[in-house]
Amino acid sequence: MKKNNTVSLQEYNTFGVAASTPLFVEIKSSLALQEKLKDEAFKDALILGGGSNILFIADLSRPVIKISIPGIRIINETEQIAVVSAGAGVVWHDLVMWCVANNLGGIENLSLIPGLVGAAPIQNIGAYGVELSDVFYDAVCINRKTGESRIFNAEDCDFGYRDSAFKNDLKDAYVVSAVRLALTKKNHSLKTDYGNVTETLAKMGVTKPNIEDVAKAVVQIRTSKLPDPKKLGNAGSFFKNPIVPKGECARLLLQYPNMPHYHIDGAFDKIPAGWLIEQAGFKGLKKGKVGMHDKQALVLVNYGTPSGKLLWKYAKLVMEGVEKKFGISLEPEVNLIR
Ligand code: EPU
Repeated sequence: MKKNNTVSLQEYNTFGVAASTPLFVEIKSSLALQEKLKDEAFKDALILGGGSNILFIADLSRPVIKISIPGIRIINETEQIAVVSAGAGVVWHDLVMWCVANNLGGIENLSLIPGLVGAAPIQNIGAYGVELSDVFYDAVCINRKTGESRIFNAEDCDFGYRDSAFKNDLKDAYVVSAVRLALTKKNHSLKTDYGNVTETLAKMGVTKPNIEDVAKAVVQIRTSKLPDPKKLGNAGSFFKNPIVPKGECARLLLQYPNMPHYHIDGAFDKIPAGWLIEQAGFKGLKKGKVGMHDKQALVLVNYGTPSGKLLWKYAKLVMEGVEKKFGISLEPEVNLIR
């Protein structure tokens, strides 16, 4: 939609915030992407995927390149492994369903993660004990300055928890045009011990699960806890789960013996932000048209405001509340665009 020579981004972000851009283009091939990146007018463009991990706090003064590069295919295989290539514009969950339907194992736990394939390596998407980095083969990326294509392997990407080189040293340097995953064709190694996957499988009456069962269980868990962005604007987890020094975690455990926490390594533990937010009193708490979800406190929900500023104002209130109660600073997991 074009208004006063600007293009509305409201339908391109899952919060449904009414931000605008002066210039907008949708890209459907790697070649077109290379050309557009060389175009002076798009030099500082914001690269937009599914808009499911972004909060526009203000209107944009720069252009937007929306990535819609399609295609899923097997590019290489051995008896055990198939390397699947997917265009950056493929809906992530469609790729998961395609792999499950073709009996390719490895990403079934990542069912229903919102967003497009191109965003997956940027924040090393993860859920239910699996991260993209576990199955990552490589990614085809386009240099934003030169338009040249380069292949990044896992080491180049320097993956961490919801983190990669694309968020750090390589921030804004490359645009992902395709992602390739190494998936199992047989003897799949199923991960069912995280959260309530096992419990859900049991409820489904499954004793010997296959990858399709695991995908179904994950879909069931996610749909029961996470709001559907088509009905309620949201971007999944709004904050990262804070990683704190073990000493700090131990200090908090003295005061809150039931606090859930996960071992990261010899020096750090991870505390679920959803728990911190719930304890600080924000779970299901609405202020006007904004609130934290009543079934999963980590999800910031838009109950009908077009204003990204209002959403951000509420998020900051939550951060202050958690800081005051626990002395922990929450960090947004969602990209803030100001
Ligand atoms: N918890 C609460 N109250 C809440 C929510 C959570 O007390 O309202 C506590 C519970 O003790 C629970 C623990 O937090 O056991 C963990 O909760 P959950 O299993 O729902 O996972 P999470 O740590 O809150 C992460 C990811 C999700 C992913 C799930 C499942 C992050 C920031 N979020 O959430 O990812 O789906 O694990 O693996 O790491 C996303 O990134 O958008 C996303 C939804």
